Amino acid sequence: MTYENIEIEIQDYVGIITLNRPEALNALCADLISELGNALDDLESNDDIGCIVLTGSEKAFAAGADIKEMEKKTFISAYMEDFITGDWEKVSNCRKPIIAAVAGFALGGGSEIALSCDLRLATPRSKFGTPEINLGLIPGGGGTQRLCRLLGYGRAMEMVLSGEMIGGEEANRIGLINHLVDEDSLREKTMEIAQNLATKSPHTIRIAKAAVRTALEQPFSAGIQSERDLFCELFDTADMAIGVKAFLNRETAEWTGA
Ligand code: CAA
Repeated sequence: MTYENIEIEIQDYVGIITLNRPEALNALCADLISELGNALDDLESNDDIGCIVLTGSEKAFAAGADIKEMEKKTFISAYMEDFITGDWEKVSNCRKPIIAAVAGFALGGGSEIALSCDLRLATPRSKFGTPEINLGLIPGGGGTQRLCRLLGYGRAMEMVLSGEMIGGEEANRIGLINHLVDEDSLREKTMEIAQNLATKSPHTIRIAKAAVRTALEQPFSAGIQSERDLFCELFDTADMAIGVKAFLNRETAEWTGA
């Protein structure tokens, strides 16, 4: 498949998707989002890929939804074409781990795509924000909900109401990102983490991701019950037997993914 707005690279069991629309700071136009969805489908169905990295350029991860495309939208057109909610959720619904490596701007939909990933790395020059308020809008790609769950109500509310950007250091301090790294080491550190995740059992890592995700959607007691069910189910998997045997024999586990 050929792509015009993104690039795909595969390295050591990691699929790297680079948003590549430099003339618009990787603004998330419909074509780009559709290509991103196709790329995620491809990488998800590729058994040689254990982890996915989503990144942009030095200047921008993504500066948001494409404002030029939004200019003519009405309630009916946005609603009927499932604008934002449709393909965008593919990032969040991906069953393999996805890491966002953010250099430069991650604004509006750009920050929401990063929030939909499982882990985030950024640099001191990264800028996160939800500036939709300045366009007479609110975040529409899950920003209000994901920011609340990640940062808490107060900080999420301030970001959404003010539309102000925060830098990488502040993002790290408030827990919006997992790691703050120098610009020069962003790729190396991201790949180190991605390759580590890619060495785990593909089956177990999917279950682990689903178990943690449950905390975003279920009450605590239902989440605990769900975790127990998944934990017990894993005792019947080949990979659990392999992992335990490898530990006891001081060997490296060779996962089957079953
Ligand atoms: N959509 C379309 N084009 C965009 C864009 C966007 N979100 N962001 C930047 N661009 C384009 C600019 O129009 C410009 O193109 P031209 O040269 O053809 O005019 C080019 O990218 C470079 O941008 P700037 O000249 O503005 O670069 P800058 O360095 O001076 O400023 C910036 C960078 C602060 C990120 C600024 O571009 C900006 O504020 N962008 C918009 C950010 C924004 O409001 N994002 C939210 C979008 S709405 C949304 O995302 C809804 C949602 O919830 C999903």
